[in-house]
Amino acid sequence: MSEHHHNKAPRGLWSSRIGFIMSAAGSAVGLGNIWKFPYITGMHGGGAFVIFYLFSIVLVGLPIMVAEMVIGRHARKDPVGAFRRLRGGIWTGVGWLGVAAGFVILSYYCVVAGWAVDYLWLSIKGTFSGAHAQEVPEIFGNLLNNDLAQLFWQAVFMGLTVWIVLGGVSNGLERANKVMMPVLFLILIFLAGYGLSLPGGAKALNFLFAPEWGKLDASGMLESLGHSFFTLSLGMGAMLTYGSYAEEETSIPGVAVTVAIMDTTVALLAGVAIFAIAFSYGMEPAAGPGLVFKTLPIVFSQMPGGTLVAILFFVLLVFAALTSSISLLEVVVAYYCDEKKWSRKKATLVMGGIIFLIGVPSALSNHLLADFHIIGDRNFLDSVDLLATNYMLPLGGLLIAIFTGWVLTTRLARAEIEKGEVRFHLYPLWHFLIRYVSPILVAIVFLYKIGLF
Ligand code: PHE
Repeated sequence: MSEHHHNKAPRGLWSSRIGFIMSAAGSAVGLGNIWKFPYITGMHGGGAFVIFYLFSIVLVGLPIMVAEMVIGRHARKDPVGAFRRLRGGIWTGVGWLGVAAGFVILSYYCVVAGWAVDYLWLSIKGTFSGAHAQEVPEIFGNLLNNDLAQLFWQAVFMGLTVWIVLGGVSNGLERANKVMMPVLFLILIFLAGYGLSLPGGAKALNFLFAPEWGKLDASGMLESLGHSFFTLSLGMGAMLTYGSYAEEETSIPGVAVTVAIMDTTVALLAGVAIFAIAFSYGMEPAAGPGLVFKTLPIVFSQMPGGTLVAILFFVLLVFAALTSSISLLEVVVAYYCDEKKWSRKKATLVMGGIIFLIGVPSALSNHLLADFHIIGDRNFLDSVDLLATNYMLPLGGLLIAIFTGWVLTTRLARAEIEKGEVRFHLYPLWHFLIRYVSPILVAIVFLYKIGLF
């Protein structure tokens, strides 16, 4: 009993089960769903990629989400401290990898989220209303050519992230999430419905759901698998950290399933809306990272009341990005608070500043540093995104699965899950997935990609 209190009290807990669900869902639902999922689906040819992605979510993502939350709640620590406490030795490295991924991902995440803040500002100014369909994509090009504007919006977004994390993930944020998430759903349903009523609607459904397996190659599979980690916030300790704030009465598998369903629904709705619009206006599905910013505002420019819908949409996009970025910063901050005994204030301000600086080359990667390629012909932003999503997260996820299935043991994990009044009915299935299916699938795709087959 006393250890129980000793462990929990100073670190804080979610105020309720729904607070935990909304915060975990807030972390999962973000730019990955609305910005990234549609554009990588477009680049990898649609249907087959989407189906592989859905399988990755169920067979790899879900079991690992349960594992991360269990590790976090069992250890009641940041990722580094958790692995050190539960096993130590080289396993502590999994925690390090996660904290490092937090730095890398948040650095460019703030740049892309900055584009969304800029688009919110443009919506408020009424830039889209009455603009011609051909002009709208150019607005995005202008932003990418403006280094200062991107730095400015990146700084604004990082400032917002720091500001929220400084105050702790308060009841206020949990409450705001409970309102904003349903509104986000409603707007996306509306936009998907609107898209389907356009001439390109049927083509969009066909593109997204009719698989052409020939179009899916190894890099598409790795991208899909990597994205299932990214979109569910897995492989770097974000769900581990959030799990460390969870009550014992909360059903971890229940939360994980709810979060995965919400996340997947948002991604598919965004995909339908965006491809329907893209096809209706003769745009390329493989347009790349600018896809969302070039498509949706066309609709906002054409429909009555579009300015208002645009404002609403970009408010929610920024909010979705914020609820994810705070979880990225929280991993880093939890590490400096738990392990280095820094104050939350110091950790948040110093690390927010450093991560902003790491993100500067990403902000300049489309103009000033446009000729600076790191991986293939990818610019800096796309390269660090690739590094984190396709390498760091799958590697982290693989090690977390092996750790939970074989080192910590599933028996102990089950005991942790069932500490409260919870029964883990699907335990045999989870045991099989986390020990065999998830690690083997990740290992195969990974080894294939780095050329070992
Ligand atoms: N899941 C978030 C998104 O889809 C990104 C994220 C990745 C957040 C990893 C936390 C950890 O936008």
